[in-house]
Amino acid sequence: GGTVVEAETGTLSAGGTFDSNHLGFTGTGFANPANAVGGYIDIPVTATAAGTKTLTFRYADGTTVARPATISVNGTSRGTLNFPTTANWDTWSTASISVPLTAGTNTIRVTGTTAVGAANIDSVTIS
Ligand code: GCU
Repeated sequence: GGTVVEAETGTLSAGGTFDSNHLGFTGTGFANPANAVGGYIDIPVTATAAGTKTLTFRYADGTTVARPATISVNGTSRGTLNFPTTANWDTWSTASISVPLTAGTNTIRVTGTTAVGAANIDSVTIS
């Protein structure tokens, strides 16, 4: 369950692209954040009321190295997710974190902490 927000409704830092050259994405494609420390995607999510919600990111990392990323909400870091490798770029997994949301629009930022940047991100589900 939950509300699915497609990554392609978001905004990428310089060097990131919205792509559709791998299989299995939902919506019209996925985000391919910049391969750089600090490369990020901002995804706007709307909450009807303030409260703690679980964010579940659908992502792919077809390399042999995890792509850890910090997760911030409205500019405040709420922790780091490891984003372990997936079998290939066509195989999607999920990583989840609980965060406080405010009523209305919240900006979720996923920021890669290593030189390869964040994983490809397909969507985030709020539940
Ligand atoms: C490949 C892959 C991209 C991915 C990139 C990366 O180019 O096709 O989808 O984003 O590797 O390493 O980040």
